[in-house]
Amino acid sequence: MAPYSASIALVLFLLQFTSSFHKLPAKSIHSNSTTLSHSHLDPNARLHQAYVALQAWKCVIYSDPSNITSNWVGPAVCEYNGLYCAPSTDNPDIQVVAGIDLNHADIAGFLPDEFGLLSDLALLHLNSNRFCGILPPTFANLTLLYELDLSNNRFVGPFPSVVLSLPSLKYLDLRYNEFEGPLPSELFSMNLDAIFVNNNRLTSVIPSNISGSTASVIVFANNNLGGCLPPSIAKLADTLEELLLINTNLSGCLTPEVGFLYKLKVLDVSFNKLVGPIPHSIAGLTHLEQLDVAHNMMSGVIPAGICALPNLKNFTYSYNYFCDEEGSCQNLTSRGIVYDDRRNCLPEHKFQRSEKDCEAAYAHPIECFDYECAGRGTGGAIPPSPLPSVHS
Ligand SMILES: *[C@@H]1O[C@H](CO)[C@@H](O)[C@H](O)[C@H]1NC(C)=O
Ligand SMILES: *[C@@H]1O[C@H](CO)[C@@H](O)[C@H](O)[C@H]1NC(C)=O
Ligand SMILES: *[C@@H]1O[C@H](CO)[C@@H](O)[C@H](O)[C@H]1NC(C)=O
Ligand SMILES: *[C@@H]1O[C@H](CO)[C@@H](O)[C@H](O)[C@H]1NC(C)=O
Ligand SMILES: *[C@@H]1O[C@H](CO)[C@@H](O)[C@H](O)[C@H]1NC(C)=O
Ligand SMILES: *[C@@H]1O[C@H](CO)[C@@H](O)[C@H](O)[C@H]1NC(C)=O
Ligand SMILES: *[C@@H]1O[C@H](CO)[C@@H](O)[C@H](O)[C@H]1NC(C)=O
Repeated sequence: MAPYSASIALVLFLLQFTSSFHKLPAKSIHSNSTTLSHSHLDPNARLHQAYVALQAWKCVIYSDPSNITSNWVGPAVCEYNGLYCAPSTDNPDIQVVAGIDLNHADIAGFLPDEFGLLSDLALLHLNSNRFCGILPPTFANLTLLYELDLSNNRFVGPFPSVVLSLPSLKYLDLRYNEFEGPLPSELFSMNLDAIFVNNNRLTSVIPSNISGSTASVIVFANNNLGGCLPPSIAKLADTLEELLLINTNLSGCLTPEVGFLYKLKVLDVSFNKLVGPIPHSIAGLTHLEQLDVAHNMMSGVIPAGICALPNLKNFTYSYNYFCDEEGSCQNLTSRGIVYDDRRNCLPEHKFQRSEKDCEAAYAHPIECFDYECAGRGTGGAIPPSPLPSVHS
């Protein structure tokens, strides 16, 4: 999971820097302890600016059950709980507020307009709090922001377009909030490494501009996107490792272009309205470890090449209408692969659908190229293209 490790590395880097700065001032980076203690008493202009922002923030925090912000008093902001200072990138001689980590603090409040004064922030982690309202437009001033984690809060309104203008952002985590409306296509021209927007109230189809993304992880799960997965997803081949589209109201046939995503390790399209076959092209995804297509209306034969994938660990295809599977699929258990094939139309397997249900489903065969793809997406609405060759 590249983005997690990258993010942890950055956090550790910042923590290391700041903890040595905090706890061992005389012995550490700054041999001139006079300068250091002086800076604590008389912070530089940038720390003063941060002080103004943090005091304004504290004023719009109305519940802080663990008293995290109780020491947010006075100009020595680097001593505040949850704050990390580091040498400025443009002037290593001065300390600036480079990180704020209030994860799991259960704080309730807003983000004030003064947030824009925290222009040295590289990292902002507010996971699992009760922040509400919208992101102030002044957020656009956080030009060094690299990681933004606002997950599990109560932010509302349309997708916060102000994040689209942050030039340094790599890691965007907005999951478990109440953002609604369309996913902006600009999100995919941002050079992000990780996009987590699951568990919001986003609507509108996955834009075909997703092709511009460089992300290794994309999680849209539990939103009401509708439409098809656009074939342009193939353009993410050189970066995408995890694609999670669980319960996104996806329809149409699963585009064979997913077979171009040769770095993919996790593909989860479960709990949608997909029809038609599992594309044979998936058999080319040699790194694939987790494949979940359960709880759709897919049909046809499970291709042997998928069951034979060399790194497959978990293949879940229950609650569909698959009618048969090829040889190597009968051998999954002996290869240590976890699978779930319940509630299909597989002859002689346990826990299958009734003959009546299966006959009804197969009475009207699916033609992927005829299938009306809801919304503007065209995922299954074009004829299947030639299968990609197996990448190595
Ligand atoms: C320490 O800092 C003070 C004040 O900035 C300066 O006058 C002094 O020369 C410095 N000493 C050393 C050893 O760098
Ligand atoms: C926070 O501070 C209040 C008032 O000083 C106190 O009653 C409460 O016990 C403190 N809570 C924690 C978790 O320390
Ligand atoms: C943006 O940051 C600069 C300093 O980097 C500061 O002078 C300015 O006031 C900030 N603007 C806003 C709107 O906060
Ligand atoms: C997304 O695609 C639409 C048309 O398909 C185009 O007009 C728009 O400029 C694109 N946006 C971005 C951010 O690439
Ligand atoms: C799912 O998406 C379709 C459009 O693709 C829409 O008509 C339908 O209402 C959506 N389903 C739900 C439960 O919102
Ligand atoms: C396999 O995947 C399914 C769904 O993706 C999950 O519920 C299950 O716990 C997984 N099993 C194992 C053993 O990892
Ligand atoms: C099943 O697995 C065994 C051992 O892993 C192998 O020898 C055999 O050829 C496999 N059978 C099929 C049909 O793939």
